[in-house]
Amino acid sequence: MDEHCICQFVIFGSTGDLASKKLLPALYHLKCADRLPKDMRIIAFGRRPWNDKAWQEFLKEQLEQYAEGFSAEHFANFCKHFHYVEGEIHDPAAYQKLRKVLTPKGSTEPDPSIFYLAIRPADFVPVVQQLSAAGFNKEVDTRIVIEKPFGDDLESAMQLNEQLHRHFKEEQIYRIDHYLGKEIVQNLLVFRFANLPIEAVWNRNYIDHVQITVAEDGGIENRAGYYDQAGALRDMVQNHLMQILTLVAMEPPPSLEADALRDEKVKVLRSIRPIPKSAVHAHALRAQYGPGVVQGQHVPGYADEAGVAKNSVTETFVAAKFYIDNWRWRGVPFYLRTGKRLPAKTSSVAIRFRHTPQQLFRETPIERIEPNWILLSLEPESLKIEIYVKEPGLEMRVRPVQLNASYRRDGEEELDAYEALLLDVMEGDKALFIRFDEVEWAWRVVDPIIKSWGREVDYIITYPAGSWGPEEATRIMDKEDQYWRNQI
Ligand code: BG6
Repeated sequence: MDEHCICQFVIFGSTGDLASKKLLPALYHLKCADRLPKDMRIIAFGRRPWNDKAWQEFLKEQLEQYAEGFSAEHFANFCKHFHYVEGEIHDPAAYQKLRKVLTPKGSTEPDPSIFYLAIRPADFVPVVQQLSAAGFNKEVDTRIVIEKPFGDDLESAMQLNEQLHRHFKEEQIYRIDHYLGKEIVQNLLVFRFANLPIEAVWNRNYIDHVQITVAEDGGIENRAGYYDQAGALRDMVQNHLMQILTLVAMEPPPSLEADALRDEKVKVLRSIRPIPKSAVHAHALRAQYGPGVVQGQHVPGYADEAGVAKNSVTETFVAAKFYIDNWRWRGVPFYLRTGKRLPAKTSSVAIRFRHTPQQLFRETPIERIEPNWILLSLEPESLKIEIYVKEPGLEMRVRPVQLNASYRRDGEEELDAYEALLLDVMEGDKALFIRFDEVEWAWRVVDPIIKSWGREVDYIITYPAGSWGPEEATRIMDKEDQYWRNQI
């Protein structure tokens, strides 16, 4: 940890789902791996009338449930880092209390602190205003971490940003997209830019199309209140899938320094061809899961989930096509797909090459010679290239094999995305956080779809839970021989 490291960490929304399932287990694992600074102080800010002891009981329950490898011994060390501050997010007195806790004895100024807003987006601005009024603002060494969704369309994102900038400088703001913390997403940069033969074919001359899939077998859990307003386009496509797209498509940056990287990502987003109003249906398709069977369990349809309006047309599945109009990608479709209640939790980037110009191996039926694929799976992690080899025997037949670049060696440590990103926030490394222009351009890309779907309030197609989405999902594809690649 260097001098930029900030060791006071305040969690707003400390009893919410995100804190329980992701943040607290991530901090716990960092502690177990001895990666947390020794003098780290974590303050859980919450409404419940608790003292430190009551908070620690809650913390233990959550970790027992959500932190892999939980042990009472590690917990005893971990919970020493915590304090609980009871308060209402709209109450100025609560922030004064917080300020006192963050101020070392004998001083009048708080130590540098990080504020993590794991709260409903509607509360971002009130909390930031209160923090600023309590002296945590542009003038002091403070960082603020904002979860997605950053706004719910272009306009609201601009407004939110403007509000934030009244109180904080851009370098203090960490917009988190946890997909960027996934090891294999970062591996995309290494795969592309550390391997000459790969980068040489990574363009429109060789690549037929790119597919990015993020599939989940889970439903909306107990997040109906948020999800029914957001839908899959806002929840997944505008952020996680768009970020993966930028890493697949960007030019090599001059360095891995945060702004160099983010400049290149923004150039990709700016080069995405805007979808005209009249072409939204040709480019994007939405659907909602009906009842079905997932991993052997009968599950209800979306409209029957608790908290969802019966006539909701919120999408739980999106398939969309984008073109990047630049020298590298002109004419190559990028197909993006995401959905809940699909057969498995799996995410991948599948890159299909063009056909070879000549069909030399006539003894193998032509339809069996598929173009080559590069298959990068985020979950479970793998990296494969599909090529052809000769089938042993007298005849000159070919068959596909997968070159499997086994990515992680046995026993190698696995850092969860949140663990990696929390360390980055503490150390002040912004390379894997989103700059506002990335958010802005990603909204510009999806806004025409949002607007068009926003007008279609009467009907949405459905797919059975446990399927790969509606059959119509291939509709957006350009060519007959293109199909969604489900098996990686
Ligand atoms: C979140 C979305 O950002 O990402 C959730 O809000 C989604 O709806 C989750 O389930 C998926 O993340 P992961 O890391 O489990 O693939």
